[in-house]
Amino acid sequence: MTQISSNPDVPSMGRRQFMNLLTFGSATGVALGVLYPFVKYLLPPASGTAGSGVTAKDALGNDIIVSEFLSTHKPGDRVLAQGLKGDPTYMVVEGDAALADYGINAVCTHLGCVVPWNNSENKFMCPCHGSQYDAAGKVVRGPAPLSLALVHATVADDKLSFTTWTETDFRTGENPWWS
Ligand code: FES
Repeated sequence: MTQISSNPDVPSMGRRQFMNLLTFGSATGVALGVLYPFVKYLLPPASGTAGSGVTAKDALGNDIIVSEFLSTHKPGDRVLAQGLKGDPTYMVVEGDAALADYGINAVCTHLGCVVPWNNSENKFMCPCHGSQYDAAGKVVRGPAPLSLALVHATVADDKLSFTTWTETDFRTGENPWWS
C-alpha cells in the first residue's frame, strides 16, 4: 500500500504536527490528500507492527478515551485517529452511540491520498482523482481499484485498539487484499 521510509533525522514532533493537520477537516481535504504521500514518506514508522495492534491516538498523540470521544460525537461520524503503522484510520460511530468493531484505513487505494469523509454525501470522497467509497469504505467509484482497508477496532479499559483484519472482508465477501 503506502510506502514508508524510516528517517532517523526527522524529529518525533513531525508526526504530531501531521496529525494536527488531520483535524482541520474536509476544508483542507484537497491539500491534505495531495500532501499525505509526501509527508508519509518523510515520517518514521510508528511503534508497533501490523498484527500486534496499537492503541488509537488523537491528533496530539494521546490515547483516545472512548467515553469522552462518544460524548462529543454523534452516530454516523467518521473521525480520524492514528492507526496501525501510523496510517490515518477512521473510527466509526454507530447508531447506538457506540464505536463499530471495525476501523477504516483512510489511505486511498488509487495513489495514496487521505480520503476525507463527506457527511452530507454519506461517502468517503477522494480529492485527488475522484474515487468514492461508501460509509463502510467499500469502493463505489474509481479510479480506485479496491475498497479501503479494514482493521479491527476493540474497546477495552475505555481505550480503542486497532489490530490487523485478516478475515473475510464483510463488504465484499472476499479475502482482504491488504494482508
Ligand atoms: S489517490 Fe484517491 S482517487 Fe487517486
